[in-house]
Amino acid sequence: MSEIERHAYDVVVIGAGGSGLRAAIEAHEQGARTAIVCKSLLGKAHTVMAEGGIAAAMGNVWEQDNWQVHFRDTMRGGKMLNHWRMAQLHAQEAPDRVYELEAWGALFDRTKEGKISQRDFGGHRYARLAHVGDRTGLEMIRTLQQRAVSLGIDVFMECTVTQLLKDGDRIAGAFGYWRESGRFVCFEAPAVVLATGGIGKTFQITSNSWEYTGDGHALALRAGATLINMEFVQFHPTGMVWPPSVRGILITESVRGEGGVLRNSENKRFMFDYISEYFKQETADSEDEADRWYGDHVNNRRPPELLPRDEVARAINSEVKAGRSSPHGGVFLDVATRRSAEDIQRRLPSMYHQFKELADVDITKEPMEVAPTCHYVMGGVEVDPDTAQSIVPGLYAAGEVAGGMHGSNRLGGNSLSDLLVFGKRAGEYAAQYATGLDARPAIADADLDGAGRHALAPFESDSGENPYTVHQDLQKTMQSLCGIIRKEEELRQAIDVLQEYKQRVPHTSVEGNRQYNPGWHLALDLYNMLLVSECLARAALERTESRGGHTREDFPQADPVWGTKNIVCRAEGDGVAIAAQPLPEMPDELKKLFEEPAE
Ligand code: FUM
Repeated sequence: MSEIERHAYDVVVIGAGGSGLRAAIEAHEQGARTAIVCKSLLGKAHTVMAEGGIAAAMGNVWEQDNWQVHFRDTMRGGKMLNHWRMAQLHAQEAPDRVYELEAWGALFDRTKEGKISQRDFGGHRYARLAHVGDRTGLEMIRTLQQRAVSLGIDVFMECTVTQLLKDGDRIAGAFGYWRESGRFVCFEAPAVVLATGGIGKTFQITSNSWEYTGDGHALALRAGATLINMEFVQFHPTGMVWPPSVRGILITESVRGEGGVLRNSENKRFMFDYISEYFKQETADSEDEADRWYGDHVNNRRPPELLPRDEVARAINSEVKAGRSSPHGGVFLDVATRRSAEDIQRRLPSMYHQFKELADVDITKEPMEVAPTCHYVMGGVEVDPDTAQSIVPGLYAAGEVAGGMHGSNRLGGNSLSDLLVFGKRAGEYAAQYATGLDARPAIADADLDGAGRHALAPFESDSGENPYTVHQDLQKTMQSLCGIIRKEEELRQAIDVLQEYKQRVPHTSVEGNRQYNPGWHLALDLYNMLLVSECLARAALERTESRGGHTREDFPQADPVWGTKNIVCRAEGDGVAIAAQPLPEMPDELKKLFEEPAE
């Protein structure tokens, strides 16, 4: 394989969203030779879909806020399945990461006193999302990208990694191809940071774009790492519904954070009917109290529209099923009657333009039609909470591809802070590991040959199926059998159908040559989507309870026994083996935080 282009670094970061950029900046600053490899163009990342803000207890709007309250909110939002240490580090370090971003040039909205403004989001006791209108993720990417480029970090754009390479049990590098030319490329590196985001493209209706095919999850599994929490998928309550071409595009939670309310076809503000026992104490049970909360968080309880996302998505799903839907199968999100046109255009400029341009709806005058959309996977690579290292020496993961931080459900705004906190940590520890080694690992030629053969396989069969057909079928299966509401018989059916796809995927065939050939790219992505779908379906079948982003119609309650366990996935043959494992024990001083009343 003499024609393979080769590069050598200390740390290679795969993915250029918030966590990848932050990891690369840190690794570079620690003195490691660092590169970023990304499947898409630099700057095009799902990070920009976290529009509403970065959750950080800075106390700028409510001085009562602090890391302990943020920690408690995060754990309760995840229904206590989060890795406590990750949630603690996240809550403690998020404010510093926001100030650092500001120092690097991010232009946050301000309070009247000139501090960074913070807005309300679901599940957060206080307004704590530092924001830039409703384009916060975009500003974050702009800032990090500018910093990475100004530091001179090498970026390999439009380059897909198909395999991690190892020397014995440790990481030795990564193999991939240039999307434009189809030529192979090998990165020799003792440390690889996965920052590839999520798995949204396994579902039909999603806020994710084409890049999110579970690549990092699958690369990690195949390299011997473990995944946890794969049964937990976040369906963001508010995706666009109409016209069909825009179905699933995100409508930021900031609309509700700014006072927007959900109504059904009978014009009823229905969320009051869906307040679960778990959040009863902290949720307003009348419109008056809910509306007073915007002025006084201390003496009033949160509006039910700002319950955590899993609760709101299930409520919308139930209203639609009960026949009280909007004309195109969603519900109405109304901010027009709640805020002035001027406020809406100032605080939610992207939403205003998005609806005007894509749906011909003026959100300052009319309600939006909304329905849940697959947005985020809580499950990911099992990592050490402090160092972000997986069980494979030299393999790190940060951001959505890492598991544990969010438990069974992520609170809105906690993703941008997660990317910054754990991106930095992954970069720091990957650099320390790589630069501290006595001898660099070596890549065997046979491994490169094998990776090359696998990548070219779709060109070998000329009468196989079109990869687009298989992808559509997979998406339909996942949407209909592993979606918001699940049950045993459907999950078993999904697992059976996924076994059939295992026969179909290796027989997809592609036409043309290796130069920019999207069919070929999809044929390779399908292996990853299939593997993560199997993890999801098997873990969802195993977890016989409902919790966070996993709802079982046949087991509608949370089960305290399951509340002490994670499900871990490992690669086994060409499939997946799962096992339950106990959660790490939370120290007593943190446990005490749950005994105090929410203040
Ligand atoms: O609704 C939103 O703006 C999304 C934020 C997030 O996923 O954190």
